[in-house]
Amino acid sequence: MRQPLVAGNWKMNGSRASVATLLDGLKAGVGEVRNAEMAVCPPFIYIPQVQEALRGTAISWGGQDVSTEASGAFTGEISAAMLLDFGCTYAIVGHSERRTLHGESDELVAKKFAVARAAGLKPILCIGETLEEREQGITEQVCARQLDAVIELEGVAALADGVIAYEPVWAIGTGKVASPEQAQDVHAFIRGRVAALDNAVAEGLRILYGGSMKPGNAAELLAKPDIDGGLIGGASLKAEDFLGIGLAAN
Ligand code: PGA
Repeated sequence: MRQPLVAGNWKMNGSRASVATLLDGLKAGVGEVRNAEMAVCPPFIYIPQVQEALRGTAISWGGQDVSTEASGAFTGEISAAMLLDFGCTYAIVGHSERRTLHGESDELVAKKFAVARAAGLKPILCIGETLEEREQGITEQVCARQLDAVIELEGVAALADGVIAYEPVWAIGTGKVASPEQAQDVHAFIRGRVAALDNAVAEGLRILYGGSMKPGNAAELLAKPDIDGGLIGGASLKAEDFLGIGLAAN
């Protein structure tokens, strides 16, 4: 059985005060979430505050990105070792906003996956097609290409140490959620592609859905056999909404 993971991607949101309020709310309510593992990925600068508040709770945390480099003259970068130093379990790699706005290639993302994994973090690899690509009917090709970059660099067994998040770009922050059937189809495709190489890795692999997931649509999505949780943007910024998604996995 794969334990669902509900991970919050706070993106570039929050202040010390709002983070404190959000964390208080999460701590107060997480006890009712019975099935899902809950995790938050704050902006780097709030990770110490998150560690302080969540240490010893059932909620884990991670970074929204990670450098391919170990240390040195890389202004603005944060290394995997630094994330571990502050108790991180996860690191998101290849979010579509980084791919699009920061020009991250499949190869660079694969390297980030490899570096995070080698350090002992669990990389959350984001993949997904744009609206244009979906309309062209190349959703599967795009997801396969993004996934294969990691498999080619690290081998399929590496996926056992990570998580995949299928995030159709057209559903991110738009309020347009993929239908449970649309999402399930792509999740099954991803798992099938991994299974063709290694069935045991495919069976254990958590594939999260991301894109306008909310308490109101989470149960239907999570009921699908290949949807093993969510990567949540907007709805992870309010304790009630984020916990509501966790509760939907009960
Ligand atoms: P959203 O973002 O839930 O706000 O659509 C999801 C994500 O980008 O990870």
